[in-house]
Amino acid sequence: MTKKFLTSTYKRADPDQTRAHYDDWATSYDAEIAENGYATPARVAEALARHAPGLCGPLLDFGCGTGLSGVALRAAGFTTIDGADLSADMLKGAAEKGAYRKLWQIEATDPVPGGYDLITATGVIGIGAAPSSTFDVLLGALSSGGLLAMSLNDHTRTDPEFDGRWRAALDAGTARLLFQEYGVHLPGIDLKSTVYVFEKT
Ligand SMILES: C[S@@+](CC[C@H](N)C(=O)[O-])C[C@H]1O[C@@H](n2cnc3c(N)ncnc32)[C@H](O)[C@@H]1O
Repeated sequence: MTKKFLTSTYKRADPDQTRAHYDDWATSYDAEIAENGYATPARVAEALARHAPGLCGPLLDFGCGTGLSGVALRAAGFTTIDGADLSADMLKGAAEKGAYRKLWQIEATDPVPGGYDLITATGVIGIGAAPSSTFDVLLGALSSGGLLAMSLNDHTRTDPEFDGRWRAALDAGTARLLFQEYGVHLPGIDLKSTVYVFEKT
């Protein structure tokens, strides 16, 4: 029987533990997540497509995993998608999808390259994955007018640190909230998520 990972994925972990978790999950991730009706990639992609000035400019899919988020971005019309992730094994899945122009592995402390006016982080920031500070790192990598589309699941939003990051950016005037929608994430485990689109000011 294939090992299941979804129920153990929302535990606090340091970057090495997170990478090991996703390396172990990589070959069965797509099947397990599909079984549970993973809806957030399409929601993020469609929200970003509604707010982006165009669909052809380079987009960074941060925490691209096995590429389900890239496939959803392609389906929404984006044409030039690059992906970065902590887990080399998840990236192998992304390479097989054929949705990305380039893919690379990053360390948790690596700077995020500039030059992208569009960044997505679908299912990436949260308990058991990238820390709340990732919001600031991704916003910081955008130029003024650039867009960050991301999701936070309900587990993650129980920790006020995560909402605190984006609220602080709105209060400081470094970002503007263009879109926020609560909706379906993984109906198989009755988990919902909130999708956001922020504009860097
Ligand atoms: C739930 S998966 C989501 C993958 C993909 N975006 C999707 O929607 O299927 C979370 C991904 O975030 C990556 N990740 C976790 N922490 C990260 C970090 N600090 N920097 C980059 N990627 C990270 C993991 O390796 C994993 O592939």
